[in-house]
Amino acid sequence: MGGPVLPGTDAPLAAGELVLLLDRKGRRYLLELEPGAEWHSHGGLVEHDRIIGVVEGTAVRTSKAMEVVVLRPTREDYALKMRRGAQVVYAKDQAMIVSLADIRPGATVIEAGAGSGALTLALLAAVGPAGRVLSFERREDHARIARRNVERFHGGEVANWELMVDDVVAGLAGRHAHRVVLDLLEPWRAVAAVTEVLAPGGILCAYTPGVPQVMRLSDALWAAGRFTEVRTSETLVRPWDVDGLAVRPAHRMVAHTAFLTTARRVPAREEGGPARRRRKADTGGTVDWAASDRGRGGDGLDADEGRQDP
Ligand SMILES: C[S@@+](CC[C@H](N)C(=O)[O-])C[C@H]1O[C@@H](n2cnc3c(N)ncnc32)[C@H](O)[C@@H]1O
Repeated sequence: MGGPVLPGTDAPLAAGELVLLLDRKGRRYLLELEPGAEWHSHGGLVEHDRIIGVVEGTAVRTSKAMEVVVLRPTREDYALKMRRGAQVVYAKDQAMIVSLADIRPGATVIEAGAGSGALTLALLAAVGPAGRVLSFERREDHARIARRNVERFHGGEVANWELMVDDVVAGLAGRHAHRVVLDLLEPWRAVAAVTEVLAPGGILCAYTPGVPQVMRLSDALWAAGRFTEVRTSETLVRPWDVDGLAVRPAHRMVAHTAFLTTARRVPAREEGGPARRRRKADTGGTVDWAASDRGRGGDGLDADEGRQDP
């Protein structure tokens, strides 16, 4: 398939396309245009045939005279409306992952876990048709949802995307990629395998909601002796209300989603790589995390990824 029609393309909406309906209160509805079908809401119904053939931005009235504007969904619109198995990575973090991990057209990216496929869509957009994305997801139910979401957005199979139902730690053996992006509970478990996947200069980026995860991952990366530039940041996006002379930050914002930790792969010291940088409270990888887990009566993260919907 040729992929979704780009929003803003000067072509009328066609049967089979996904469209977003926006009502005057800002409510958003996603639907797939099907000849003869009807869209029903509290505000009345619209026959799909009245949407098929119009241009983006057309206002359509329902049977109860409610006005809805029809647009092709952006990737973000789609990700907010698609079915979810696991919690998704939202646009602010997707954008930073693509930037901080320097994910470009033509790159090969390995991702785990695929979850609901939201980040997968962003990675596919960043690598373009000349690049490749390989996603690992160990849960079959999540993998099914990710596949459906990704293929529905693209309008069919995606030639440069492969989805493996497997544990990424086992599945990485023998693979090579320019970038590895991890969104899973215990990214430190994958550090040894990622070291083999990335050539020197390659970049790992991990999305972790909790501080203990950041500590443990950073410790594992420094201890591996094959990474430098290990950095952690979080991204805050503050929306503003702009209405005439009333211009101010919105009352509500998503305060925290996750931390992003990036690291560059380098050769080991004995292969010509840099000396390991001493840090102020450098543990040298000697923290006994297993003992600390036992002390907390588990790994301290009960929910799948220890995170909540923003
Ligand atoms: C929070 S979700 C990922 C969401 C995804 N980034 C998105 O934007 O839709 C985390 C996923 O990682 C999967 N997972 C956890 N550990 C894994 C592992 N070792 N190998 C493969 N998948 C794993 C979980 O099953 C879960 O579906």
